[in-house]
Amino acid sequence: MQNLIIKNATIVTPCGDSARKGVAMSELTIINAGCVIANDGVITYVGDAESMPEVNVADYEVIDAEGRCLLPGFVDSHTHLVFGGYRPDEFEWRLKGDTYMSIMERGGGIQSSVNATRAASAEELEEKAQWHIDRMVEMGVTTVEAKSGYGLDTATERKQLEVIKSLADKEDQKLRIVSTFLGAHATPKEYKGRTAEYVDLIINEMLPAFKDLTTNCDIFCEKNVFEIEDSRRLLNAAKEMGYKIKLHADEIVTLGGAELSAELGALSADHLLHVSDQGVKDMAEKGVVATLLPLTAFTLKEPFAPARKFIDSNAAVALATDLNPGSCYSGSIPLTIALACIYMKMSIEEVITALTLNGAAALGIADEVGSIEIGKKADFVMLRSDNYKTLPYYVGMNCVKMTIHDGKVVNVND
Ligand code: NIG
Ligand code: FE
Repeated sequence: MQNLIIKNATIVTPCGDSARKGVAMSELTIINAGCVIANDGVITYVGDAESMPEVNVADYEVIDAEGRCLLPGFVDSHTHLVFGGYRPDEFEWRLKGDTYMSIMERGGGIQSSVNATRAASAEELEEKAQWHIDRMVEMGVTTVEAKSGYGLDTATERKQLEVIKSLADKEDQKLRIVSTFLGAHATPKEYKGRTAEYVDLIINEMLPAFKDLTTNCDIFCEKNVFEIEDSRRLLNAAKEMGYKIKLHADEIVTLGGAELSAELGALSADHLLHVSDQGVKDMAEKGVVATLLPLTAFTLKEPFAPARKFIDSNAAVALATDLNPGSCYSGSIPLTIALACIYMKMSIEEVITALTLNGAAALGIADEVGSIEIGKKADFVMLRSDNYKTLPYYVGMNCVKMTIHDGKVVNVND
Protein backbone atom coordinates (compact mmCIF):
# COMPACT_ATOMS: atom_id res chain seq x y z
CA MET A 1 0.00 0.00 0.00
CA GLN A 2 1.24 3.45 -0.74
CA ASN A 3 0.34 7.09 -0.37
CA LEU A 4 -1.13 9.00 -3.26
CA ILE A 5 -2.08 12.55 -4.16
CA ILE A 6 -4.14 13.32 -7.25
CA LYS A 7 -4.30 17.03 -7.94
CA ASN A 8 -6.02 19.23 -10.47
CA ALA A 9 -8.86 16.77 -11.07
CA THR A 10 -12.50 17.37 -11.90
CA ILE A 11 -13.92 15.14 -9.18
CA VAL A 12 -17.33 13.65 -10.03
CA THR A 13 -18.96 11.36 -7.49
CA PRO A 14 -22.20 10.27 -5.86
CA CYS A 15 -22.01 10.43 -2.06
CA GLY A 16 -23.17 8.13 0.70
CA ASP A 17 -22.74 4.76 2.36
CA SER A 18 -25.80 3.13 0.84
CA ALA A 19 -27.66 2.96 -2.47
CA ARG A 20 -29.05 6.23 -3.86
CA LYS A 21 -32.68 5.93 -4.93
CA GLY A 22 -34.93 7.71 -7.39
CA VAL A 23 -34.07 11.38 -7.99
CA ALA A 24 -31.09 11.11 -5.65
CA MET A 25 -29.41 8.94 -8.29
CA SER A 26 -28.86 12.03 -10.44
CA GLU A 27 -27.27 14.12 -7.68
CA LEU A 28 -23.51 14.07 -8.14
CA THR A 29 -20.96 16.13 -6.24
CA ILE A 30 -18.58 17.94 -8.59
CA ILE A 31 -15.36 19.58 -7.43
CA ASN A 32 -13.38 21.53 -10.04
CA ALA A 33 -9.59 21.68 -9.66
CA GLY A 34 -10.03 19.11 -6.88
CA CYS A 35 -7.52 17.09 -5.01
CA VAL A 36 -7.63 13.72 -3.27
CA ILE A 37 -5.19 12.24 -0.83
CA ALA A 38 -5.00 8.53 -0.02
CA ASN A 39 -2.97 6.85 2.70
CA ASP A 40 -2.46 3.09 2.66
CA GLY A 41 -5.18 2.69 0.08
CA VAL A 42 -7.84 4.71 1.92
CA ILE A 43 -9.08 8.21 1.04
CA THR A 44 -8.08 10.75 3.71
CA TYR A 45 -8.85 14.05 1.93
CA VAL A 46 -11.21 15.20 -0.83
CA GLY A 47 -11.56 18.88 -1.68
CA ASP A 48 -9.90 21.89 -3.22
CA ALA A 49 -6.14 22.43 -3.30
CA GLU A 50 -6.23 25.43 -0.91
CA SER A 51 -7.78 23.50 1.97
CA MET A 52 -5.48 20.53 1.50
CA PRO A 53 -3.60 19.52 4.66
CA GLU A 54 0.19 19.91 4.74
CA VAL A 55 1.89 16.64 3.82
CA ASN A 56 5.44 15.60 3.12
CA VAL A 57 5.17 15.23 -0.65
CA ALA A 58 8.26 12.98 -0.67
CA ASP A 59 6.13 10.27 0.94
CA TYR A 60 3.56 10.39 -1.88
CA GLU A 61 3.13 9.46 -5.49
CA VAL A 62 1.72 12.67 -7.02
CA ILE A 63 -0.45 12.55 -10.14
CA ASP A 64 -1.48 15.70 -11.98
CA ALA A 65 -4.86 14.98 -13.57
CA GLU A 66 -4.55 18.12 -15.75
CA GLY A 67 -8.25 18.82 -15.28
CA ARG A 68 -9.45 15.35 -16.28
CA CYS A 69 -12.49 13.78 -14.59
CA LEU A 70 -11.89 11.56 -11.60
CA LEU A 71 -14.75 9.18 -10.78
CA PRO A 72 -15.06 6.35 -8.26
CA GLY A 73 -13.81 3.12 -9.86
CA PHE A 74 -16.58 1.25 -11.65
CA VAL A 75 -18.26 -1.64 -9.81
CA ASP A 76 -19.34 -4.49 -12.09
CA SER A 77 -21.71 -6.15 -9.65
CA HIS A 78 -22.92 -9.08 -11.76
CA THR A 79 -20.58 -11.35 -13.74
CA HIS A 80 -20.03 -15.04 -14.35
CA LEU A 81 -16.28 -14.52 -14.60
CA VAL A 82 -15.02 -18.09 -14.08
CA PHE A 83 -16.07 -20.59 -16.75
CA GLY A 84 -14.70 -23.32 -18.99
CA GLY A 85 -15.18 -23.34 -22.78
CA TYR A 86 -17.06 -20.96 -25.05
CA ARG A 87 -20.44 -21.12 -26.83
CA PRO A 88 -20.13 -19.24 -30.15
CA ASP A 89 -22.25 -21.93 -31.86
CA GLU A 90 -25.22 -20.96 -29.67
CA PHE A 91 -24.74 -17.31 -30.55
CA GLU A 92 -25.02 -18.22 -34.23
CA TRP A 93 -28.08 -20.45 -33.63
CA ARG A 94 -29.77 -17.49 -31.95
CA LEU A 95 -28.91 -15.27 -34.92
CA LYS A 96 -30.82 -17.79 -37.02
CA GLY A 97 -33.89 -17.67 -34.76
CA ASP A 98 -33.26 -20.13 -31.93
CA THR A 99 -34.10 -18.90 -28.41
CA TYR A 100 -31.96 -18.92 -25.27
CA MET A 101 -34.43 -21.17 -23.42
CA SER A 102 -34.93 -23.66 -26.26
CA ILE A 103 -31.14 -24.17 -26.47
CA MET A 104 -31.04 -24.68 -22.70
CA GLU A 105 -33.93 -27.15 -22.80
CA ARG A 106 -32.05 -29.20 -25.43
CA GLY A 107 -29.15 -29.64 -22.97
CA GLY A 108 -27.00 -26.80 -24.30
CA GLY A 109 -26.79 -23.42 -22.64
CA ILE A 110 -25.60 -23.43 -19.05
CA GLN A 111 -25.14 -27.25 -19.08
CA SER A 112 -22.67 -26.90 -21.94
CA SER A 113 -20.53 -24.53 -19.86
CA VAL A 114 -20.94 -26.88 -16.90
CA ASN A 115 -19.45 -29.75 -18.91
CA ALA A 116 -16.48 -27.59 -19.93
CA THR A 117 -15.97 -26.19 -16.42
CA ARG A 118 -16.01 -29.65 -14.86
CA ALA A 119 -13.36 -30.73 -17.38
CA ALA A 120 -11.10 -27.68 -16.88
CA SER A 121 -8.29 -27.47 -14.34
CA ALA A 122 -8.32 -24.73 -11.71
CA GLU A 123 -5.21 -23.25 -13.37
CA GLU A 124 -6.94 -23.01 -16.75
CA LEU A 125 -9.99 -21.36 -15.21
CA GLU A 126 -7.86 -18.89 -13.30
CA GLU A 127 -5.74 -17.91 -16.28
CA LYS A 128 -8.79 -17.27 -18.44
CA ALA A 129 -10.55 -15.25 -15.72
CA GLN A 130 -7.41 -13.14 -15.20
CA TRP A 131 -7.43 -12.29 -18.91
CA HIS A 132 -10.98 -10.96 -18.53
CA ILE A 133 -10.00 -9.07 -15.36
CA ASP A 134 -7.19 -7.32 -17.24
CA ARG A 135 -9.71 -6.15 -19.88
CA MET A 136 -12.09 -4.92 -17.14
CA VAL A 137 -9.35 -2.88 -15.50
CA GLU A 138 -8.63 -1.16 -18.82
CA MET A 139 -12.28 -0.02 -18.78
CA GLY A 140 -12.05 1.38 -15.24
CA VAL A 141 -13.50 -1.49 -13.18
CA THR A 142 -12.05 -1.62 -9.66
CA THR A 143 -14.55 -4.04 -8.08
CA VAL A 144 -16.07 -7.05 -9.78
CA GLU A 145 -18.49 -9.69 -8.57
CA ALA A 146 -17.77 -13.25 -9.73
CA LYS A 147 -20.34 -16.02 -9.49
CA SER A 148 -19.90 -19.79 -9.41
CA GLY A 149 -22.70 -21.75 -11.09
CA TYR A 150 -20.93 -23.73 -13.82
CA GLY A 151 -20.17 -26.66 -11.51
CA LEU A 152 -23.58 -27.75 -10.24
CA ASP A 153 -21.91 -30.41 -8.12
CA THR A 154 -20.17 -29.84 -4.83
CA ALA A 155 -16.64 -30.48 -6.11
CA THR A 156 -16.85 -28.20 -9.14
CA GLU A 157 -18.73 -25.42 -7.37
CA ARG A 158 -15.92 -25.55 -4.79
CA LYS A 159 -13.32 -25.46 -7.57
CA GLN A 160 -14.91 -22.31 -9.03
CA LEU A 161 -15.18 -20.60 -5.63
CA GLU A 162 -11.56 -21.49 -4.86
CA VAL A 163 -10.45 -20.05 -8.19
CA ILE A 164 -12.32 -16.84 -7.36
CA LYS A 165 -10.67 -16.71 -3.93
CA SER A 166 -7.24 -17.36 -5.39
CA LEU A 167 -7.75 -14.54 -7.91
CA ALA A 168 -9.00 -12.21 -5.16
CA ASP A 169 -6.05 -12.99 -2.87
CA LYS A 170 -3.34 -12.56 -5.54
CA GLU A 171 -0.68 -10.20 -4.25
CA ASP A 172 -0.70 -7.99 -7.36
CA GLN A 173 -4.42 -8.32 -8.21
CA LYS A 174 -5.61 -5.19 -9.99
CA LEU A 175 -9.13 -5.04 -8.60
CA ARG A 176 -11.36 -6.16 -5.74
CA ILE A 177 -13.30 -9.40 -6.28
CA VAL A 178 -16.51 -10.29 -4.45
CA SER A 179 -17.67 -13.88 -4.86
CA THR A 180 -21.21 -15.25 -5.04
CA PHE A 181 -22.33 -18.89 -4.86
CA LEU A 182 -24.73 -19.72 -7.70
CA GLY A 183 -25.18 -23.48 -7.33
CA ALA A 184 -28.83 -22.87 -8.26
CA HIS A 185 -27.98 -21.77 -11.80
CA ALA A 186 -29.64 -24.78 -13.46
CA THR A 187 -30.61 -28.33 -12.59
CA PRO A 188 -27.64 -30.47 -13.74
CA LYS A 189 -28.25 -33.30 -16.19
CA GLU A 190 -27.78 -35.98 -13.51
CA TYR A 191 -30.78 -34.47 -11.63
CA LYS A 192 -32.97 -33.95 -14.72
CA GLY A 193 -36.64 -33.92 -13.68
CA ARG A 194 -35.62 -33.87 -9.99
CA THR A 195 -35.12 -30.17 -9.33
CA ALA A 196 -36.43 -30.32 -5.76
CA GLU A 197 -33.86 -33.01 -4.95
CA TYR A 198 -31.10 -30.86 -6.41
CA VAL A 199 -32.29 -27.97 -4.22
CA ASP A 200 -32.03 -30.34 -1.24
CA LEU A 201 -28.42 -31.10 -2.21
CA ILE A 202 -27.61 -27.39 -2.33
CA ILE A 203 -29.26 -26.76 1.04
CA ASN A 204 -27.87 -29.79 2.83
CA GLU A 205 -24.40 -30.07 1.32
CA MET A 206 -23.25 -27.07 -0.67
CA LEU A 207 -24.43 -24.11 1.42
CA PRO A 208 -22.89 -25.47 4.65
CA ALA A 209 -19.67 -26.39 2.79
CA PHE A 210 -19.04 -22.96 1.26
CA LYS A 211 -19.49 -20.73 4.29
CA ASP A 212 -15.73 -20.16 4.43
CA LEU A 213 -15.49 -19.31 0.71
CA THR A 214 -18.23 -16.75 0.09
CA THR A 215 -20.87 -14.62 1.75
CA ASN A 216 -23.43 -14.28 -1.07
CA CYS A 217 -25.92 -16.73 -2.56
CA ASP A 218 -27.73 -16.24 -5.89
CA ILE A 219 -30.35 -18.24 -7.84
CA PHE A 220 -31.67 -18.27 -11.42
CA CYS A 221 -35.34 -17.84 -10.47
CA GLU A 222 -37.13 -18.49 -13.75
CA LYS A 223 -39.96 -20.53 -15.24
CA ASN A 224 -38.70 -24.09 -15.90
CA VAL A 225 -35.43 -23.37 -14.07
CA PHE A 226 -36.03 -22.68 -10.36
CA GLU A 227 -39.62 -21.59 -9.83
CA ILE A 228 -40.84 -19.42 -6.96
CA GLU A 229 -41.36 -22.17 -4.36
CA ASP A 230 -37.92 -23.76 -4.86
CA SER A 231 -36.34 -20.30 -4.90
CA ARG A 232 -38.04 -19.28 -1.67
CA ARG A 233 -36.98 -22.52 0.03
CA LEU A 234 -33.36 -22.25 -1.07
CA LEU A 235 -32.96 -18.55 -0.33
CA ASN A 236 -34.55 -18.88 3.11
CA ALA A 237 -32.10 -21.67 3.93
CA ALA A 238 -29.20 -19.53 2.67
CA LYS A 239 -30.38 -16.60 4.78
CA GLU A 240 -30.62 -18.77 7.86
CA MET A 241 -27.01 -19.81 7.33
CA GLY A 242 -25.98 -16.15 7.17
CA TYR A 243 -25.64 -15.65 3.42
CA LYS A 244 -26.71 -12.41 1.78
CA ILE A 245 -29.02 -13.21 -1.09
CA LYS A 246 -29.42 -12.17 -4.72
CA LEU A 247 -31.70 -13.35 -7.54
CA HIS A 248 -31.68 -13.57 -11.32
CA ALA A 249 -35.32 -12.50 -11.55
CA ASP A 250 -37.99 -12.08 -14.23
CA GLU A 251 -35.42 -12.33 -17.03
CA ILE A 252 -37.33 -14.41 -19.58
CA VAL A 253 -40.93 -14.30 -18.30
CA THR A 254 -42.84 -12.49 -15.54
CA LEU A 255 -42.66 -14.96 -12.65
CA GLY A 256 -42.61 -12.90 -9.45
CA GLY A 257 -38.89 -13.02 -8.70
CA ALA A 258 -38.88 -9.27 -8.00
CA GLU A 259 -41.69 -9.64 -5.44
CA LEU A 260 -39.79 -12.55 -3.86
CA SER A 261 -36.60 -10.47 -3.60
CA ALA A 262 -38.54 -7.86 -1.63
CA GLU A 263 -40.26 -10.46 0.55
CA LEU A 264 -36.90 -11.98 1.50
CA GLY A 265 -34.91 -8.73 1.80
CA ALA A 266 -32.39 -9.54 -0.94
CA LEU A 267 -29.42 -7.29 -1.66
CA SER A 268 -30.47 -7.16 -5.29
CA ALA A 269 -32.68 -8.67 -7.96
CA ASP A 270 -31.03 -8.72 -11.37
CA HIS A 271 -32.11 -8.67 -15.06
CA LEU A 272 -35.82 -7.79 -14.50
CA LEU A 273 -36.64 -7.44 -18.21
CA HIS A 274 -40.16 -8.69 -17.54
CA VAL A 275 -40.73 -7.33 -14.02
CA SER A 276 -44.34 -6.62 -13.01
CA ASP A 277 -45.49 -3.23 -11.73
CA GLN A 278 -46.03 -4.82 -8.33
CA GLY A 279 -42.45 -6.12 -8.39
CA VAL A 280 -41.10 -2.63 -9.08
CA LYS A 281 -43.17 -1.22 -6.24
CA ASP A 282 -42.15 -3.93 -3.77
CA MET A 283 -38.45 -3.57 -4.57
CA ALA A 284 -38.62 0.21 -4.21
CA GLU A 285 -40.39 -0.09 -0.85
CA LYS A 286 -37.98 -2.67 0.55
CA GLY A 287 -34.82 -1.04 -0.85
CA VAL A 288 -33.77 -4.01 -3.00
CA VAL A 289 -31.30 -2.80 -5.64
CA ALA A 290 -32.51 -3.40 -9.22
CA THR A 291 -29.40 -4.53 -11.09
CA LEU A 292 -30.01 -4.02 -14.79
CA LEU A 293 -27.90 -5.73 -17.44
CA PRO A 294 -28.43 -4.03 -20.81
CA LEU A 295 -25.75 -6.04 -22.62
CA THR A 296 -27.74 -9.24 -22.04
CA ALA A 297 -31.00 -7.76 -23.34
CA PHE A 298 -29.09 -6.45 -26.36
CA THR A 299 -27.39 -9.79 -27.03
CA LEU A 300 -30.62 -11.80 -26.66
CA LYS A 301 -32.59 -9.21 -28.66
CA GLU A 302 -34.98 -8.82 -25.72
CA PRO A 303 -36.63 -5.56 -24.58
CA PHE A 304 -34.47 -3.55 -22.18
CA ALA A 305 -35.39 -3.54 -18.49
CA PRO A 306 -37.65 -0.63 -17.43
CA ALA A 307 -35.00 1.53 -15.76
CA ARG A 308 -37.21 4.64 -15.76
CA LYS A 309 -40.04 2.81 -14.06
CA PHE A 310 -37.67 1.78 -11.26
CA ILE A 311 -36.09 5.21 -10.83
CA ASP A 312 -39.41 7.04 -11.09
CA SER A 313 -40.79 4.69 -8.41
CA ASN A 314 -37.94 5.72 -6.09
CA ALA A 315 -35.99 2.47 -6.45
CA ALA A 316 -32.20 2.17 -6.62
CA VAL A 317 -30.82 0.99 -9.96
CA ALA A 318 -27.37 -0.53 -10.52
CA LEU A 319 -25.88 -1.40 -13.90
CA ALA A 320 -23.59 -4.36 -14.55
CA THR A 321 -22.30 -6.34 -17.53
CA ASP A 322 -23.37 -9.97 -16.79
CA LEU A 323 -20.21 -11.18 -18.57
CA ASN A 324 -20.77 -14.91 -19.21
CA PRO A 325 -20.08 -17.41 -22.02
CA GLY A 326 -23.75 -17.77 -23.06
CA SER A 327 -26.37 -15.04 -22.86
CA CYS A 328 -23.82 -12.21 -22.89
CA TYR A 329 -20.20 -12.73 -23.83
CA SER A 330 -19.25 -9.13 -23.19
CA GLY A 331 -17.85 -7.19 -20.26
CA SER A 332 -18.03 -3.88 -22.07
CA ILE A 333 -18.54 -0.99 -19.67
CA PRO A 334 -18.60 1.55 -22.55
CA LEU A 335 -21.41 -0.28 -24.33
CA THR A 336 -23.33 -0.74 -21.06
CA ILE A 337 -23.18 3.03 -20.55
CA ALA A 338 -24.30 3.80 -24.10
CA LEU A 339 -27.23 1.35 -24.04
CA ALA A 340 -28.40 2.59 -20.64
CA CYS A 341 -28.44 6.21 -21.82
CA ILE A 342 -29.76 5.67 -25.34
CA TYR A 343 -32.32 2.88 -24.88
CA MET A 344 -33.11 2.78 -21.16
CA LYS A 345 -33.41 6.56 -20.96
CA MET A 346 -31.16 6.89 -17.93
CA SER A 347 -29.39 10.22 -17.53
CA ILE A 348 -25.58 10.27 -17.58
CA GLU A 349 -25.57 11.14 -13.87
CA GLU A 350 -27.89 8.22 -13.03
CA VAL A 351 -25.63 5.89 -15.00
CA ILE A 352 -22.56 7.01 -13.04
CA THR A 353 -24.35 6.35 -9.73
CA ALA A 354 -25.60 2.99 -11.03
CA LEU A 355 -22.09 1.88 -11.99
CA THR A 356 -20.42 3.00 -8.77
CA LEU A 357 -22.25 3.48 -5.45
CA ASN A 358 -25.36 1.47 -6.35
CA GLY A 359 -23.24 -1.40 -7.73
CA ALA A 360 -21.38 -1.41 -4.42
CA ALA A 361 -24.72 -1.49 -2.57
CA ALA A 362 -25.81 -4.48 -4.67
CA LEU A 363 -22.80 -6.27 -3.19
CA GLY A 364 -23.35 -5.00 0.36
CA ILE A 365 -20.11 -2.96 0.36
CA ALA A 366 -21.34 0.60 -0.20
CA ASP A 367 -19.71 1.64 3.07
CA GLU A 368 -16.31 0.68 1.63
CA VAL A 369 -16.32 1.57 -2.09
CA GLY A 370 -18.43 3.33 -4.71
CA SER A 371 -17.77 7.00 -3.98
CA ILE A 372 -14.89 9.44 -3.53
CA GLU A 373 -15.25 10.25 0.16
CA ILE A 374 -13.02 10.16 3.21
CA GLY A 375 -12.78 6.63 4.64
CA LYS A 376 -13.59 4.85 1.39
CA LYS A 377 -11.06 2.76 -0.55
CA ALA A 378 -8.91 4.75 -2.96
CA ASP A 379 -10.42 3.21 -6.11
CA PHE A 380 -10.65 5.71 -8.98
CA VAL A 381 -11.14 5.92 -12.69
CA MET A 382 -9.64 8.90 -14.50
CA LEU A 383 -11.24 9.75 -17.83
CA ARG A 384 -9.36 11.15 -20.82
CA SER A 385 -11.64 14.19 -20.75
CA ASP A 386 -12.53 16.95 -18.28
CA ASN A 387 -16.19 16.35 -19.21
CA TYR A 388 -17.90 13.24 -17.81
CA LYS A 389 -20.59 13.57 -20.46
CA THR A 390 -18.19 12.03 -22.98
CA LEU A 391 -18.99 8.65 -21.34
CA PRO A 392 -22.03 7.80 -23.51
CA TYR A 393 -21.13 10.25 -26.31
CA TYR A 394 -18.01 8.29 -27.32
CA VAL A 395 -20.38 5.42 -28.11
CA GLY A 396 -19.11 2.00 -27.13
CA MET A 397 -15.55 3.33 -26.91
CA ASN A 398 -13.24 3.48 -23.94
CA CYS A 399 -13.02 6.94 -22.30
CA VAL A 400 -10.71 5.74 -19.53
CA LYS A 401 -7.18 7.09 -19.16
CA MET A 402 -6.13 5.57 -15.83
CA THR A 403 -7.42 3.06 -13.29
CA ILE A 404 -6.38 3.26 -9.63
CA HIS A 405 -7.12 0.51 -7.14
CA ASP A 406 -6.33 0.68 -3.40
CA GLY A 407 -4.30 3.83 -4.05
CA LYS A 408 -2.13 2.21 -6.75
CA VAL A 409 -2.13 2.91 -10.48
CA VAL A 410 -3.09 -0.46 -12.00
CA ASN A 411 -3.54 0.57 -15.64
CA VAL A 412 -2.82 3.46 -17.97
CA ASN A 413 -4.26 3.49 -21.49
CA ASP A 414 -2.26 5.23 -24.23
O1 NIG B 1 -27.27 -14.02 -16.17
N1 NIG B 1 -29.70 -16.25 -16.83
C1 NIG B 1 -28.93 -16.99 -16.24
N2 NIG B 1 -27.62 -16.90 -16.14
C2 NIG B 1 -26.77 -16.12 -16.97
C3 NIG B 1 -26.49 -16.81 -18.26
C4 NIG B 1 -25.64 -17.96 -18.07
C5 NIG B 1 -25.30 -18.69 -19.33
O2 NIG B 1 -26.05 -18.64 -20.33
O3 NIG B 1 -24.26 -19.34 -19.30
C6 NIG B 1 -27.32 -14.74 -17.14
O4 NIG B 1 -27.79 -14.34 -18.22
FE1 FE C 1 -26.16 -13.58 -14.70
